[in-house]
Amino acid sequence: MVSPKMEEALNKQINEEFYSAYLYLSMAGYFAEKNLMGFFNWLFVQYHEELSHAEKIYKYLIERGGKVNLMAIKQPDYNWKDPKEAFASVLNHEKYITSRINELMDLAETEKDRATMSLLQWYINEQVEEEANAQAILAKLEMIGDQPAGLLMIDRELAQRK
Ligand code: FEO
Repeated sequence: MVSPKMEEALNKQINEEFYSAYLYLSMAGYFAEKNLMGFFNWLFVQYHEELSHAEKIYKYLIERGGKVNLMAIKQPDYNWKDPKEAFASVLNHEKYITSRINELMDLAETEKDRATMSLLQWYINEQVEEEANAQAILAKLEMIGDQPAGLLMIDRELAQRK
């Protein structure tokens, strides 16, 4: 069994992951409107990844005899000044998620809940990749400035993500 405190914290994290999915789905729509379908593709794949992050915690909670308590998902932004601002917000959001996961790990350590620590280690590793991916795209967007040719090149690259 997970403790009531851990149960509550894991339920909150399920909500954070669903919000992440919602945010990236919203952002995918923003890029589709601009006909940047490579960016759309990257974010749509990311949306599915976030759903899988939520599902992994959801299933774990059930396995440990915890009670699922789904909460309302807040409305994400739907407009950004430009692609650079959009990806700066992806990076900021992933940093925020990393901080949430670290807090969960602190709680699991305090409670000596080794099974939850093992689950969270997967998320800690995943967050390294999540931040690095967002940072790499943001760095390219910063490099090209306002050049449409550069933007189309990145768009073609992001279309490859499966
Ligand atoms: Fe589920 Fe992008 O962290």
